[in-house]
Formats: sequence, structure tokens, C-alpha cells
Amino acid sequence: MYLISMILASLAIPFVLTKICPYFWKDVLYVKDLLRILVKFVSRRRRKPLFLVLDRFLEQTASHPDRPFIVFENKTFSYRDTDKKSNKVANALKAHSQLKPGDTVALFMGNEPAFIFTYLALAKLACPVALLNPNIRSRSLLHCFSCCSSKVLIAAAELKEAVQDILPSLREQAVCVYLMVKECDLAGVQSFSDKVDEASDSALPQSLRSDITFKSPAVYIYTSGTTGLPKAAVVNQTRLLAALAVLAANGVTSNDVIYLNLPLYHTAGFVIGFIGSIETGSTIVLRRKFSASQFWEECRKYNVTVVQYIGEVLRYLCNTPRRNNDKDHRVRLAIGNGVRTDVWREFLDRFGNIEVREFYASTEGNVGFVNYVGKIGAVGRVNFIHRKLFPYTLIKYDTEQDEPVRDFRGLCIEAPKGETGLLVSKITDIAPFVGYAKNEQQTEKKKLRDVLRKGDLYFNSGDLLKIDNDNFIYFQDRVGDTFRWKGENVATTEVADILTMIEFVGEANVYGIKVPGHEGRIGMAAITVKNNTQFEGGTLFNHVSSYLPSYARPRFIRIQNAVEVTGTFKQMKLRLVKEGFDPACMQDPLFVLEERESSYMPLTAQVYHCIVSGKFKL
Ligand SMILES: *[C@@H]1O[C@H](CO)[C@@H](O)[C@H](O)[C@H]1NC(C)=O
Ligand SMILES: *[C@@H]1O[C@H](CO)[C@@H](O)[C@H](O)[C@H]1NC(C)=O
Ligand SMILES: *[C@@H]1O[C@H](CO)[C@@H](O)[C@H](O)[C@H]1NC(C)=O
Repeated sequence: MYLISMILASLAIPFVLTKICPYFWKDVLYVKDLLRILVKFVSRRRRKPLFLVLDRFLEQTASHPDRPFIVFENKTFSYRDTDKKSNKVANALKAHSQLKPGDTVALFMGNEPAFIFTYLALAKLACPVALLNPNIRSRSLLHCFSCCSSKVLIAAAELKEAVQDILPSLREQAVCVYLMVKECDLAGVQSFSDKVDEASDSALPQSLRSDITFKSPAVYIYTSGTTGLPKAAVVNQTRLLAALAVLAANGVTSNDVIYLNLPLYHTAGFVIGFIGSIETGSTIVLRRKFSASQFWEECRKYNVTVVQYIGEVLRYLCNTPRRNNDKDHRVRLAIGNGVRTDVWREFLDRFGNIEVREFYASTEGNVGFVNYVGKIGAVGRVNFIHRKLFPYTLIKYDTEQDEPVRDFRGLCIEAPKGETGLLVSKITDIAPFVGYAKNEQQTEKKKLRDVLRKGDLYFNSGDLLKIDNDNFIYFQDRVGDTFRWKGENVATTEVADILTMIEFVGEANVYGIKVPGHEGRIGMAAITVKNNTQFEGGTLFNHVSSYLPSYARPRFIRIQNAVEVTGTFKQMKLRLVKEGFDPACMQDPLFVLEERESSYMPLTAQVYHCIVSGKFKL
């Protein structure tokens, strides 16, 4: 009897706990996973010789050589094929270049299998790789190339002209340039495909990698940021090893097929998609670039089970015309960041029961969250153990001065629950901040001292987050994405969410612009109008009036054919901000909110001059 009641009681405890804290078990499971990952990481770090990400790939190849690793445009490369292909690239480099272990190589290539073969080849040669964005040109390209002191540049065939552009400077720096073609007539550029074809596919000795330490750089990934030229974030071997866990920690296994359509030169595609799959031993369905119209068709064709998203990707999928087979697919998990609440709901409603794992992380940052309970809109959850391991906090931030608020002692002030604050995380041994290559100034700018105690050192994420009473963490904005108008903070994503609720609004990109004679910035939105619908100033006015406080209502509307996005599908704002609202300077139709008319009216040159001269009250 006693025993039975004990059993009943112990069965009841979890039940009661689940009633009191509905996320109890999910929290426990999360902590269990977190600890399991840490234990694995620590035990790998102790292995001799050093255990690197490459070694995990070699382990996978040895245990299931014939499993498909990359599927690309109807070609399939098994783990063994991939291993051999990368050996050929490595042997070609060994035979023809002066490359030594530790020399950095810049890879200038879009998504294709050769990207992966080349990356693995360079890992085998112990060479760090700088992942150049294939969309950049001239000065930017040269800047990105130079900031990692690369000795060699390997470029895809279709990027020949971009290389030619910067060739004189490359030759001055005595850089060895390879193009992925069989023959090349360009002086100073060598063909590479022919050399790879001829090279042996025998394995490279591990001794080549004997000088690598965990502190050695493994890859350089460029982060664009809101101003200036791209910065190269250094990803050390330790960090790359830790990154192996990302997909595994979210329940991805060797049976999964991952749809990789995000750029491999960025963190999401490279670290999460590619490196993550090495750990799990999954199959990657690689695509040159994201295509909303092909997305589901390909997911069906290849039996895709896991998809990645970033920024506006899920919105693009929701914007495609409805089909009867929208729910007919095997995708069970979508992992990424930047989905807005309304899109998240619509996505589930439209495409079925897919688990969305929204996370928060940055290429160079030292703290990350994942929303492991599927709470719509959140990027994660405060977890005691996680916070002990990675001490982070939200501090009060003054968006006007663009700096943290400090008290009389000069220390920062923690933001209470429910209030937006700047995320900062302590720089420690297990949460290091490596910084940017050859950019002391930017590296220093991301460090924050005297946060909670004199002399302490934190990483400044530049992101504004909020923690609610149930301990869910919400991303609010990047610091630059909040502007102040009439003494109030306006969060651009919040306003964009409201605008896209309107029937005729396709996409919305919200930003603040300067108006002569006014403090702060006034709200403006660049929107696209959906096909077969029309812009209606009155509807828009009524909508923003009922959903937004007056200071947050966009005063100006600019209608565009398409909202420009970056390579990672983040909206571009800088140029729009610069272009402002002068109708003489642009072709796009402009509208201005006019209270008296209860509508948005066309912004004529005359109205513009009234605004600039102060006759039109804002
Ligand atoms: C990462 O690598 C860089 C370059 O080798 C090195 O300077 C830095 O100390 C390393 N950082 C950590 C935390 O290992
Ligand atoms: C997808 O799954 C179906 C059913 O299990 C199978 O017949 C088909 O061959 C699979 N397709 C691919 C590309 O693996
Ligand atoms: C809207 O129309 C344009 C031009 O007519 C077309 O290119 C575009 O694909 C259409 N968009 C959608 C979502 O149907």
C-alpha cells in the first residue's frame, strides 16, 4: 500500500509541477541536453591528437561512406565522394601552390558542392578559410580579402570579372589566384579545375595539422552590420567545435535531410547548416539560392525533413499563392531566426504542424538562446543553469544618446522584467569574444566595461531584448533599428508587423529619417503593394491609428516594387534613410500622413517644401 501511494505520489509530483510551471519538463530536458552537449564538448577537447570538426567529418565518412552527404541539382555525393573530392583539391593545392599550414585562403564562391570540397580540403591542409561574399565587388571585395591577410584566392568560374577588377592590387600583394576553370587566359590567374582533376585522391597526413591549436582561426565570416565595410569575425577551432552541436541539440539526427538554401558564406548556412550536418551525419540538399516558388516542390522531391530560415524567408513562403498540397511534405522542423509573430502563426496555419525553433545568436557573440518550447514570438527562455554558465543580462539603454544608462557609480542598470534592454554577456573562458580580424577598433567597440561591477567585461550584442514575466525572451530590435521621435522609442520591426497586417501591404521596411528643424527621427515605411490590390491611404490611416500610438505611426510611405534585402534576407535600410522623403529625388510614389484628411495623401513637391520650411506641422 505504502509503495503504491509512493508511486502515485511521485507520479503526481510532475503533474502538479506541470500545472504550476507548464514548461517544467521542457526546461528540464533542455538543461539535460545542454549538459550532455557540454560534457561531449569537454571530452572532445581533451582528446589527443586534437579533435577538430574535420575529424568528425572523417569519423562520419568512416562509419557510413555511402550515405549521401550532398545532393545538388540531381547529383549526389556520398560522404566518401566528398572526402575524395576534397582530397583532390587539397593535393592540387599542395602540388601547385606555396601554401603552408596556417596560411589563410580566401574562398570566393556561391553555394555549390565545390565550396564544401574546397573548405574541407583547406581544413585538411590546416589553412584557415575566409568566406568571401560572392556578391561583393571592387573596394569591398579587396577590403574583405585583405583584412585576413590571405595568401591565396580561390574563385568560382562565374566570378572571373569580379576577380579581374581587383587583379592589379592582388598582383601587387603577390597573391596567388585560382579560378575554377580548366583553362584561363587571364595573366596572373591560374586555372584550377584541371589541376584538381589531375590530382590524386589519396588522404592527407594528419601531421599537416599538428600545429593547430584550439585558438587557431578556422574560418573568417564577414558580418555586414549597419555601417561601414564588412568586418571579419574570427571563428576559432574551439568555437567551430562547439558549433557542431547546433543541429544535434535541436533533435536533428542522421535520418534527417536538411534543405540548405542560405548562403554558405554566412553563419546560418555555414555553421548551422553545413557544420551542424557534419555532427549529425545528415544529408544536405544544397541549393544555389533561396527560391520561394521551388521551396516546397523540392522539399517533397528530396524528402526534406529540416529547413532553415532567416530574416524574411518564412514571409516569402507565406506570400506564395496557396496550393492544395501546401501541407503535403515531410518537413518537421524549421530552424532559424528573425521570424515575426504574425508570419510564424500564418506559416503554421498554412504549412501544417512544423516545429519552429527560433533562436537568437550572432556570428561573433558569446551567448545564444533557443526557443525550445515553441512559444510563438519568443527567441528563447531564461534558464537558471544556462544563465549560470553564460552570465548575461539586459541593461537599460538610452537610444537617444546611443549608449547604456549608467548610475552615479558609473555602473549599468539592469532592466526589469517586461522592459526592453540591451543584451550584454560576460566574456569568460567558455564564453569568449574573439573579435574581428585586423579591426581592433571595432573589436573594442563591442566590449563593455564596468557593467555590474567595476572592472568587469561584457560583450555588447547591440541587440535590444525583453524578458516577460513567464521568463520568455523576445528580440525587440537591433540598436540601430530603434529610433526616437517626440521623446519616444519606436521599434521598427514592431511597426512593420502592424503594417503587414493590412490586406494590400506585401512587405514593409520601417526606418526613421531626419527632418530639418526637428529633434530625433520621424517614421517612414517603404512598402510593397500586393498584386491585384491597391494602395488605400484611408485604410492605412485607420489601421495605424487604431494600432499604433501617434509618435510611432509612419509619417511617410514610400511604395516600392520590391523591398531590398541583404544576402541573409535582412532588410536594407541605410540607403532608404539617406534618400529621405524628397519626391524630386526618387521615382517611387510617396505619401504623407495628413491628420485633417484622415488619410495618407500624395506627397507633392509643394507639401515637401512646406514640411522642410516648417509650415506643415509634424
Ligand atoms: C582566437 O584566435 C585568434 C587568432 O589566432 C587569437 O588571437 C585569439 O586569442 C583566439 N581566441 C580564443 C578565445 O581562443
Ligand atoms: C522519398 O521517400 C519515398 C517514400 O519513402 C521514396 O520512395 C523515395 O525514393 C524518396 N526519395 C528520395 C529522393 O529519397
Ligand atoms: C506580381 O506581379 C509581377 C508583375 O506582374 C510578377 O512579376 C510577380 O511575380 C507577381 N507576384 C506574385 C506574388 O504573384
